[in-house]
Amino acid sequence: MNAPRTIGIGILGLGTVGQGVWKHLSDKKTDLESRLGVKLDLRKVAVRDLKKHRAVKIPKGKITKNPFEVIDDPAVHVVCELIGGTTKAREFTLRALKLGKVVVSANKALLCEHGPEIFDAVRKHGGQFLFEASVAGGIPIIKAIREGLAANRFELIVGILNGTCNHILTRMGEDGLTFADALKEAQELGYAEADPTLDIDGIDVWHKASILAWLAHGKWAPRKQTLVEGIRNIGPADIDFARRFGFALKHLAVIRREFKKGWMTLGVYPALVPNRDILARVSGVNNGITLRGDVVGATTLAGRGAGGDATASAVIGDIVDAIAALTSGAPTLSGDNLDKREKQGKAIRMADLDEIISPFYLRLSLLDKAGVSEGVYRIFSKHKVSIARVIQYEHPNKGRGTVTLSTYPVSERKMGAVLKELRQLKTVLEEPFILRIFSPES
Ligand code: NAP
Ligand code: HSE
Repeated sequence: MNAPRTIGIGILGLGTVGQGVWKHLSDKKTDLESRLGVKLDLRKVAVRDLKKHRAVKIPKGKITKNPFEVIDDPAVHVVCELIGGTTKAREFTLRALKLGKVVVSANKALLCEHGPEIFDAVRKHGGQFLFEASVAGGIPIIKAIREGLAANRFELIVGILNGTCNHILTRMGEDGLTFADALKEAQELGYAEADPTLDIDGIDVWHKASILAWLAHGKWAPRKQTLVEGIRNIGPADIDFARRFGFALKHLAVIRREFKKGWMTLGVYPALVPNRDILARVSGVNNGITLRGDVVGATTLAGRGAGGDATASAVIGDIVDAIAALTSGAPTLSGDNLDKREKQGKAIRMADLDEIISPFYLRLSLLDKAGVSEGVYRIFSKHKVSIARVIQYEHPNKGRGTVTLSTYPVSERKMGAVLKELRQLKTVLEEPFILRIFSPES
């Protein structure tokens, strides 16, 4: 009998995710070896700072400051890119792919910004690029879209895709923490990006949602035609409105596809989600994604969306797939139908503002004077936008009051026109704050 083949694994980055991958690969090495019929060699790890204290202990000769010692080592077959960012990560990824290696990545920013270049390198040099860990932490959503749900066309994909934001919104809404304290906690738990503005301003979710839209529809949504809003401006009145009227406040990515009219939308924003919706119950660091497919109907996946362990689970899942392909000579997963999918994507246009419709929530800070509300309602009535509910908060002796209201479904264009006129009113004292109200139908 032949001796089992040895597969060398190199890791770039030993932060939250890298340490999780090292720990769980070491713990599960024997199980994985017998399952895959190979010997695993956790060969080398690259970091920036050799002196930094880490929760995992790496044998001396296996840690380096030079990433090329990992990438160029002929005994390394699988390179895990876990450093983050898009400059060095791009350089290292392309170098490994040019050598025909497998790259396993958790880096959604890299894929979103350089996807076409990366897949060109895959096609040209015959390596693989696997990225399960880039979206929704431990939830195997990439595999679900690619394999388990392959029979479907998706008219709706809606998800809570950022663990940091969901942790913050849950801690603010359920435990009364301030935004700053909840963010600090998420950072301490290893959920946030190195630059947490990527989380709280919605950019991280835009990266993830773009990947899902590309996988499902073959189209990279242009940033300029994508609404991207974060959670910084959510305040107590918004949380109060949600509680009173049966909503949960969630940061969502919403991807809709209209097959007859040929359009797609991608929006990233905080939203009021009715408590009866399954996503309203996805709390803390968890992520949740509902996909409505024409064959399967609505299917929801939920689980931990950030943190070293959950993300390591996804990275190791990709390593297992890569080894199975390397040892069986099966076609690479990342090369699957790329050309066909991209051709489909070219025929899709981004939706027009008149085609994107939802109910809205609005918070206004108004001068506390008789007749002020009438001026506001006149604008809604002029644009034929119907109001569903209103709450008025008075702030005695402050000369201002807060009004929160919700509308019936209306297009983004109409709501934009209402907001434009509201901003011009002298009695509106601050920038109006809006939330979309999620409804699967609209
Ligand atoms: P992190 O804790 O900041 O760790 C980054 C690691 O990369 C550090 O060990 C750092 O070395 C190393 N590094 C940075 N630049 C390097 C370079 N030029 N050469 C060698 N090593 C370098 O980040 P993370 O949270 O693990 O995230 C890593 C990636 O996974 C990112 O793309 C992130 O978006 C993604 N991700 C993170 C999570 C999560 O929950 N944290 C979940 C899913 C995906 P030093 O330690 O020596 O400074
Ligand atoms: N910062 C990201 C989040 C990590 O909080 O969701 C997982 O991608």
